[in-house]
Amino acid sequence: MSGSPQIYRASTTAPVNIAVIKYWGKRDTTLNLPTNSSLSVTLSQNSLRAHTTASASESYSGDDTLILNGEQEDIKSSKRTQACLKHLRSLRADLESKNASLPNLSQLTLRLVSENNFPTAAGLASSAAGFAALVRAIADLYELPQSPEELSLIARQGSGSACRSLMGGFVAWRAGTKEDGSDSKAEEVAPASHWPDLRALILVVSAEKKGVPSTAGMQTTVETSTLAPARFRDIVPKRLQEIEKAIHDKDFETFGRITMQDSNSFHAICLDSWPPIHYMNDVSRAAMSAVETANRKAGKIIAAYTFDAGPNAVIYHLEEHTHLVAGVIKSILPWIPGWEGEFGEKIQPNEFGGLEQKALMTLKTGVSRVICTGIGGAPEKIDKHLVDEGGKPVSL
Ligand code: DP6
Repeated sequence: MSGSPQIYRASTTAPVNIAVIKYWGKRDTTLNLPTNSSLSVTLSQNSLRAHTTASASESYSGDDTLILNGEQEDIKSSKRTQACLKHLRSLRADLESKNASLPNLSQLTLRLVSENNFPTAAGLASSAAGFAALVRAIADLYELPQSPEELSLIARQGSGSACRSLMGGFVAWRAGTKEDGSDSKAEEVAPASHWPDLRALILVVSAEKKGVPSTAGMQTTVETSTLAPARFRDIVPKRLQEIEKAIHDKDFETFGRITMQDSNSFHAICLDSWPPIHYMNDVSRAAMSAVETANRKAGKIIAAYTFDAGPNAVIYHLEEHTHLVAGVIKSILPWIPGWEGEFGEKIQPNEFGGLEQKALMTLKTGVSRVICTGIGGAPEKIDKHLVDEGGKPVSL
């Protein structure tokens, strides 16, 4: 028997999700409980993913550590990360108390290493994928029996939208009504296999300056927007029912209309906040025009834009309309990086008429890359570890 203590490891990849019914507002900032339910599409991990290794060993000492994209993160002062770690540890301690043969991993220092395959600064919901991967990897390390739904309660405390990244396909985050937040969790509405031809074209737009962080922005909205209460109370619950039916019926027209309406409603309450919050810019608006023009030419909704807390456009469409949506964008921006890979390579550029010159120029100068992706599955356990057998962080 060798003298060096064992290094326990578990690794996972987790996806990005992009909401079609937006979460914007907290009713409890400590437990991270939302003012309204939300619904998102999980995107393929081939294009966008967080990869995390959780490891524990008696040979580690001191505080838990997290290295994210090669940089040491300050997790000691991050209340949200601490809340996740505490919760996961207590679940492990429960298991250990019932089974004396289990190693006492709950007592050991954690060494966490994480890498995104996309730039964190691109504003692409990296915190959602990151916290989902962190929670999933530690749950696997601890061999916790909890379901993704139960784990979503923990990921929610890291970042609200992260709870939706623990599942694939279409995922709802039910706001819940309980004060302790025990019913505020994610739930799969339909798996990716239900509507596998759903595509997402992301136009990455460089922002001149960094926008208001979502946590702070939400608080400003909850405290000052006069339009927000109607959104929380009436508008979102009705839309959620309608879009869930559209998803079940694979009715893209209704799905697309509600997606665009809800994105606009979210940005409207941002603008209605004081001081007003602006996330979209001229490039975002040019992307909206391109989608509206494509829909007008098709005579029906074949493309739907949505924008999060930044200027990037995410355009949902079906595979059968790729030439009328992504093909058109490719003819405008053929030189942009990102057309290679999974879904982009086979897209034929398609000449586009009808978009006004100004919008065309704005897109040409303002979009820095595209990501051609589609709906995807839940986090995956993998055996590529970012911590080696000796416990040292490695980069792949
Ligand atoms: C606009 O999940 O980043 O992307 O809970 O404060 O971490 P925190 O917020 P976060 O907010 C995401 C907001 C959004 C909409 C959405 O994803 O539903």
